[in-house]
Amino acid sequence: DKLRLDPPEFTVKNYACQRRTPLKHNNTHLTHALELLAESAAFGENEGRSVAFTRAASVLKTLPRSVQRIEELRGLPCLGEHSLRVIKEILEYGASQEVESTRQSEQYQAMKALTGIFGVGVKTADRWYREGVRRPSDLMDSEQKLNQAQQAGLQHYKDLNTCVSKAEADAIGVIVDQAVQAVLPGAQITLTGGFRRGKESGHDVDFLITHPEEGKEEGLMPKVVNWLDTQVGQKGQNSYLESKDGPARPPSNMDRFERCFSIFKLESQSCSPPEREKSHQWKAVRVDLVVSPFSQFAFAVLGWTGSKLFERDLRRYAGQVKNMSLNSHSLFDSHQRCFLRATSEEEIFSLLGLEYIPACDRNA
Ligand code: CTP
Ligand code: MN
Ligand code: MN
Repeated sequence: DKLRLDPPEFTVKNYACQRRTPLKHNNTHLTHALELLAESAAFGENEGRSVAFTRAASVLKTLPRSVQRIEELRGLPCLGEHSLRVIKEILEYGASQEVESTRQSEQYQAMKALTGIFGVGVKTADRWYREGVRRPSDLMDSEQKLNQAQQAGLQHYKDLNTCVSKAEADAIGVIVDQAVQAVLPGAQITLTGGFRRGKESGHDVDFLITHPEEGKEEGLMPKVVNWLDTQVGQKGQNSYLESKDGPARPPSNMDRFERCFSIFKLESQSCSPPEREKSHQWKAVRVDLVVSPFSQFAFAVLGWTGSKLFERDLRRYAGQVKNMSLNSHSLFDSHQRCFLRATSEEEIFSLLGLEYIPACDRNA
């Protein structure tokens, strides 16, 4: 019929790393709905379903204008039957019953609140939920055993669930730079994660640390953490509060970088002195620190800038299309059986045969 002969309204590439996804887009009412279903599927430990909804949302983020009719989505990748049904319902009735009932459900709300505690993942939250825990406050007077990170997470629950602004991220950057320069002069600090992609707020602040002389970066993390702990630890000053899995996790097999998922105490700068007297003078902020050898720096920046879906698709594209294996350390060519070197992100995209996507367009 005639409709089928019309060219598709939009053309979108299959992998998120093949397309530009800016921060601001025109379909937030649809993407928020699909992302809630993705989140709910993740709470149910259904990873496949969660990724499918995340991919569907991501495709809508790349469209140059707001979708009006379901027919406009013909020919787009990653839009499964379930996602299309949800989109259609929202376009026709303004909301999706499934999304709204999920949002209101006791399980979704409890899992959202419990996984919002630093150090608590889906598995722990789900176990607590089955044992009757619904809110973080239920944990305070319960028998549940909490590790050190979770205790800190509970203690700073409100702060850690308040968005970190760009100004706060910059202030944290000054502290991190001070600490790193004190223990290793000449080290270089790069803001990664959401703020590098141009976000104006985030759930944490991510940094990558390296030194131009290979090897100098070894053993840096414990020194940085120790410096933060002792040098600025006095009352009324910025300091380091707590971290997950001990202060300086030894490099694991999964990721050989030294890294530290931590909580900083950030003194408020904006409040005037009388205001400071009254209440809370500081804010707990989540900070992720990662140390990389200089030779792996380009792979580390690419791997820690995100978004998570962009990273997932980069690795999937490398494997499925190029027969290569990409991670935050290296790129391995399985056909030639060798590692491919790179000193910039541009070079890595080029080795993968991809058009370069700047960080601000990786908000997949
Ligand atoms: N990351 C990772 N391993 C983890 C956690 C995060 O490799 N255990 C990577 C993610 O793949 C992502 C980057 O670190 O590329 C940043 O992750 P995160 O801070 O969780 O997300 P952001 O994109 O920065 O979003 P937000 O603003 O909410 O922090
Ligand atoms: Mn982040
Ligand atoms: Mn992070």
